[in-house]
Amino acid sequence: MIQFDKVLKAYGALQVLKDLDFSVDNGEVVSIIGPSGSGKTTVLRVLMTLEGIQGGTMYVNGEPLNKMNVDGQLVDASKAHIRRIRSKIGMVFQSFNLFPHMTALDNCNESPIHTQGKSKAEATEESMRLLEMVGLAEKANHYPSQLSGGQQQRVAIARTLAMHPEILLFDEPTSALDPEMVGEVLEVIRDLAKSGDYTMLLVTHQMGFAREVSDRVCFFDGGKMVEQGKPDDLFGNPQHDRLKQFLSKVLEAG
Ligand SMILES: Nc1ncnc2c1ncn2[C@@H]1O[C@H](COP(=O)(O)OP(=O)(O)OP(=O)(O)O)[C@@H](O)[C@H]1O
Ligand SMILES: [Mg+2]
Repeated sequence: MIQFDKVLKAYGALQVLKDLDFSVDNGEVVSIIGPSGSGKTTVLRVLMTLEGIQGGTMYVNGEPLNKMNVDGQLVDASKAHIRRIRSKIGMVFQSFNLFPHMTALDNCNESPIHTQGKSKAEATEESMRLLEMVGLAEKANHYPSQLSGGQQQRVAIARTLAMHPEILLFDEPTSALDPEMVGEVLEVIRDLAKSGDYTMLLVTHQMGFAREVSDRVCFFDGGKMVEQGKPDDLFGNPQHDRLKQFLSKVLEAG
């Protein structure tokens, strides 16, 4: 479903992803863990095409994302090609990124109406269903400033789902939240993971949650995937020293 083939991402002289080979199967739930600066967010941002890459190819559903096929040749992708492929992907950010001047409902309606051309009535019906699903139907007419962090993040998830993505990317979706709000957001993500409806890639510092919901966990360090495995294997029997050190540090920190 998602494939990185020798992907190179650099900021100036700093190589952040180094010939990264990495893939996620259809319907698979994969967590990415690793130290700060290891390139976890970058993996999501380049896949979302928020950042360009300097080498390699990314594929979504077998189709190249940053390249396209023209007369049997792979050439740099056009904006329209990138937009088409990217429409299969939705991303939830650490900092919610809701439009502050719009209600929860209008945040959810915005893209379906303006990029997918849905009628307001049609978009509203779907958005209300999604707000209901994340437990916020009664807050539909509230502005982000009138919602708690956990509620804002649940609206952000509903807004992402309103675009009907096949792939969901989460970048530390609970790390900006007060502890008492973490659970309500994890509950929504857990339900999405269990539904089997989405291919999911989740960057998280919450090892317990990664272990619980993932089919596979990948440990990144220094722009490379150093180790991957089934959650119980990776956490229960880590092989690489760097992973062992990382786990002992995060588990110590609680
Ligand atoms: N826009 C940018 N310009 C320059 N360097 C950047 C930029 N964005 C990220 N970097 C660098 O790329 C490296 C990887 O960053 P990235 O955000 O992917 O790390 P991360 O694993 O998500 O870390 P964290 O756990 O702290 O979120 C870091 O060294 C970071 O400083
Ligand atoms: Mg990050």
